Amino acid sequence: MIIARDIETVRKTVRQYHEKNESIAIVTTMGNLHTGHITLVKEAEKLADHTVATVFVNPLQFNNKNDLKTYPRTPEADLKKLEDAGVDMVFMPTPEIMYPEGMDVQTTVNVPHLSEILEGAMRPGHFRGVATVVLKLFNIVTPDYCMFGQKDYQQVALLKKMIRDLSVPVEMHVVPTVRMESGLAFSSRNGLLTEDELKIAPHLYETISAMKKEIEGGRRDFAALIKEGTEKLNSFGFKTDAIDIVNADTLEAPDTSAKKLVILAEAYLGKPRLIDNIEVNI
Ligand code: PAF
Repeated sequence: MIIARDIETVRKTVRQYHEKNESIAIVTTMGNLHTGHITLVKEAEKLADHTVATVFVNPLQFNNKNDLKTYPRTPEADLKKLEDAGVDMVFMPTPEIMYPEGMDVQTTVNVPHLSEILEGAMRPGHFRGVATVVLKLFNIVTPDYCMFGQKDYQQVALLKKMIRDLSVPVEMHVVPTVRMESGLAFSSRNGLLTEDELKIAPHLYETISAMKKEIEGGRRDFAALIKEGTEKLNSFGFKTDAIDIVNADTLEAPDTSAKKLVILAEAYLGKPRLIDNIEVNI
């Protein structure tokens, strides 16, 4: 596995792949890799001749300095997992390599509306940072395919729009959320949970799954359903940031024509803020 720490090494390697007409799939990560990431790698390997993973804790997408400081970083373990998974090259840059002139003067990508609603309203600037780094990584790696997990539902919708709007020549593959036996979605932030919190955390998915059942059973009083879900989560010990029920295609409040909804939930449990979602066909 090639470990590239600068852009030139990546470009040189991908030039060789392109010369042989070999395809590339990219798996972008912020490291602290878990089964969810490795599933993305395995899906990438099925699609493309070469899989390139990126490991970069992107400061531009953190609107909270403490969150950036405490974000778990495990570079050596990450490299071992990526090598074991059969990745061809990993790009592991520093912020100085990615933003040599500093972040204040960095050209950025703004995906209108989708970056401002829901999670974007709670974390101003977050999605501008995500879109910017992902486009930069696409321009460096020039992949044919990119792999993203459904756990980050709004991120997927926003990046799909960016790819469409800016005619980025990459095909996106969305991989279903990978869960532990308890139902808890794999997340790097799970590492910040205490042993007791780890036992409580599965209630996040359990709660939105129960809400899904209620909607499938005919309930349409979404405001009341959200209130009940929030109270339930808080009673388990979460500090719920938001639960939203929106049209799965537009992420807007659903009207009567909506055929598919998504329940999006964000809640603190101790230190970390956990997110999860579930789709509902109606
Ligand atoms: O989903 C993530 O881990 C990050 O937002 C991403 C896409 C790697 C960009 O930093």
